[in-house]
Amino acid sequence: MAIKVIMDVDTGSDDAVAIMTAATSPDIDLVAICTVWGNKAVENTTDNTLRLIDALGLKAPVYKGCDTAMVKYLTNDFVPTPERKPVMYQGKPFQMHAEHLDLPEAKSKPEAIPAACFYVDYLRNTTEKVTLVPVGPLTNLGLALRIAPDIVDKIDQIVIMGGGSKMTNCNPWSESNIWHDPEAAQIVAECGAKVVWIPLDATHEACITMDDCKRFDEIGTFAANFSAEQCRQRIIVHNAQQPLPVPDAAAVHDALCIAYLIDPTVITDLRHCHVEIGLSGYGEGQTIVDQRAYPLKKNGYFAFHADRFKFVDILCDCFKRPVQGT
Ligand code: RIB
Ligand code: CA
Repeated sequence: MAIKVIMDVDTGSDDAVAIMTAATSPDIDLVAICTVWGNKAVENTTDNTLRLIDALGLKAPVYKGCDTAMVKYLTNDFVPTPERKPVMYQGKPFQMHAEHLDLPEAKSKPEAIPAACFYVDYLRNTTEKVTLVPVGPLTNLGLALRIAPDIVDKIDQIVIMGGGSKMTNCNPWSESNIWHDPEAAQIVAECGAKVVWIPLDATHEACITMDDCKRFDEIGTFAANFSAEQCRQRIIVHNAQQPLPVPDAAAVHDALCIAYLIDPTVITDLRHCHVEIGLSGYGEGQTIVDQRAYPLKKNGYFAFHADRFKFVDILCDCFKRPVQGT
């Protein structure tokens, strides 16, 4: 039976690939999508999500979420986000995530209630446990868990794209989803549900190459072609800013969370451990993974390695199928 999933996205090129994977997988029943700020302002991430579900013909409700962190920006006591120079490609600035996905304007609208309220209402009323897949800052879920900690009983597991042990991207110590809202991430880490971390250590290994993009193109569905486009865009930026050990390749982080739900063996090294979030100064937003022989009480599972060939096979297997929730 398909597992019930709620995604929480800041769409976003890799979020888009994740949504398309979930939408085409027969193993996933995508009950709703929450949006949050992160890669772009929440207006853009919501609009991008709506454009994408319309293009797919997917009938999942979209709940617009928070536009900033729970706590971090209330004071000036945080280390500023470092500026990155824009990548120039064919004479024009080129970004990892476009302001607007290159799709027709959305006809669908977001639902009336905010994402955090949706979590509380939905989870309190469901009789079946649900898997949550937050792949942006954790603000909506952190807020929902603060409003109604009892909702944890209805969560099967939380599969988070975020963090990094040896690998970081926002600054020398943090990954951007966790950096954006460390307090929310700490609330989720300690909420008591099963938490699985899919960090940069795993997503950088499960990279997608230009050759993989050709494989997607050959499938020829909208999900395959549009994913190929998003991945190529990411490869161009990775090559310029953050080249990977595999040539002409990009991490497509968020989609690895969905692939993990479809086939957990795509993660080849998942360790039960204690994960703590750095909350101030240098170290803010860091995922501190306790790997000592006598660790603090274990509160999650952290992925250290992934199988990139299996990852691409899972995506291809999904993209050749029709969209499920139409
Ligand atoms: O650090 C990678 C994560 O940050 C991904 O979820 C990407 O979409 C951005 O949100
Ligand atoms: Ca994301």
